Amino acid sequence: MKRFFIYIITGSITFLAIRCGSKPQAPNNSDSTLADSNHMKTKTDTVLVLAGINSKGVGRFQNIQLTHPLDEKMVASGKAIYQSKCFACHKLNKEMLVGPGWTDVTDRRTPEWIMNWVTNTKVMLDKDLEAQADMAICLIRMPNQDLTDKQARDVLEFMRKNDGKK
Ligand code: HEC
Repeated sequence: MKRFFIYIITGSITFLAIRCGSKPQAPNNSDSTLADSNHMKTKTDTVLVLAGINSKGVGRFQNIQLTHPLDEKMVASGKAIYQSKCFACHKLNKEMLVGPGWTDVTDRRTPEWIMNWVTNTKVMLDKDLEAQADMAICLIRMPNQDLTDKQARDVLEFMRKNDGKK
């Protein structure tokens, strides 16, 4: 049964990836029934993809120990990294720019998922279900940012600060 579910999810991802990667068709013929059913399918499939969450993502980070209170030195360094490498595509509020806004990202994602994502982006895009779900709504794929482990951890601390964590 689980296996069957995985097949459905894999099929859905392929569908979503193709959909996101291809240009929209010109709607000049009366294919609206097909278009509607495709839309429905995408919605259903997205729910399925989200149901198959592997919340730690794919990569070597499987157990990140967060510190309380926040480490302000890391926050400052993370902010500088954000301003030079992430700012062009991510806002700090909820608004979508090229990628999703960062508000609540530390609630949506586990620390491990975030660290794996920013250090192992390409593999995550190939394999991780949650990342694939994002692709359905984003026009481009996030390029690998070549962050070191320390830089990734600093950015995570900055995201926690942005989310009001103490
Ligand atoms: C060229 C644009 C671009 C840049 C630069 C970029 N990203 Fe992204 N990011 C994206 C896109 C697009 C997504 C959505 C997933 C996808 O389709 O690849 C994303 C998704 C994310 C997510 C998941 C967000 C969520 O809501 O789940 C995180 C975390 C993230 N990026 C972190 C970073 C960090 C950290 C940097 C800088 C070091 C960065 N990104 C730089 C485009 C970008």
